[in-house]
Amino acid sequence: MKILVTGNTGQVGWELVRSLQPLGQIIVAGRETADLSNPAQLRDTIQTVKPDVIVNAAAYTAVDKAESEPETANLINAQAPELLADYAAKAKALLIHYSTDYVFDGSKPGAYQETDTTCPINVYGHSKLAGELAIQAADCDYLIFRTSWVYASRGQNFVKTILRLAKEREELNIVADQTGAPTWARLIAGTTTCALKQALVERAKGGFEPGIFHLTASGETTWHGFAQMIVELAREQGASLLVGKINPIPASAYPVPAARPQNSRLALTKLEQRYAVRMPYWQDCLALCLQEFSLN
Ligand SMILES: NC(=O)c1ccc[n+]([C@@H]2O[C@H](COP(=O)([O-])OP(=O)(O)OC[C@H]3O[C@@H](n4cnc5c(N)ncnc54)[C@H](OP(=O)(O)O)[C@@H]3O)[C@@H](O)[C@H]2O)c1
Repeated sequence: MKILVTGNTGQVGWELVRSLQPLGQIIVAGRETADLSNPAQLRDTIQTVKPDVIVNAAAYTAVDKAESEPETANLINAQAPELLADYAAKAKALLIHYSTDYVFDGSKPGAYQETDTTCPINVYGHSKLAGELAIQAADCDYLIFRTSWVYASRGQNFVKTILRLAKEREELNIVADQTGAPTWARLIAGTTTCALKQALVERAKGGFEPGIFHLTASGETTWHGFAQMIVELAREQGASLLVGKINPIPASAYPVPAARPQNSRLALTKLEQRYAVRMPYWQDCLALCLQEFSLN
């Protein structure tokens, strides 16, 4: 069983390379051998490796920069997944891919189901939705996991930013009118591993159903609530932080190039039922992840 993993230097990819080890031979295809903006090179690598499973954790994730680079975002987030899906269809391989809460506009009052109408409000969201649609159209065996607000002890993310700012400043202003579920990259990788194990059995028996699944931690918060919890848990774990006040502000007071949905909540029932998993609360994952930071 050859499992090719892209995006191995990213938050999710780095964890996947570790968690998928028991399931097969992991072939890491980083930017040097599988540049998703270089279709010819990507095709060559795939054809040479001939993987049984592709786990595509690479993506153009610079949400604000994407507003001024729509072609590049589309090439990496839509055209490359289409190429991977075409290979999967022809070679009867399985494609696992990641998408985002940003395929929705955030206007729904409750948690989004997988079947809810998509309507991205920024370039990144459009490019990720185009990737989903291309994979679905290719008629391959696929699993697409939509996740949200990803963090890890590696890579660039909100947790790292807040810990840095909390050491430098007495007061922080954080957006309090956007709601979602912070999700540890290790939870995504671990759940993917459970899902892949089951998918391999389903495929062997001929009972595999492709699909889109929402995959986040349980619970919800705002960026402001997330920041407060980061500071509280970091202090509990011995961090010495300067910050005193964390002020809630509206997103309108913190202008950025790309619009963000107000509601990023994703319903987890479909994932939990199909894979017999129970997604842990975001606070519990955050506490575990913070243990990997050098907090002093
Ligand atoms: N981060 C979030 O908050 C978030 C939220 C929802 C969904 N997602 C989705 O979850 C998945 C994993 O995200 P993540 O947070 O792990 O991303 P990440 O930490 O930003 O990592 C992105 C990875 O993609 C690679 N990459 C970028 N452009 C590439 C190219 N042209 N060719 C090959 N590799 C390329 C990067 O390689 P280099 O190190 O070489 O740049 C890196 O390994 C993505 O599909 C993302 O859209 C993320």
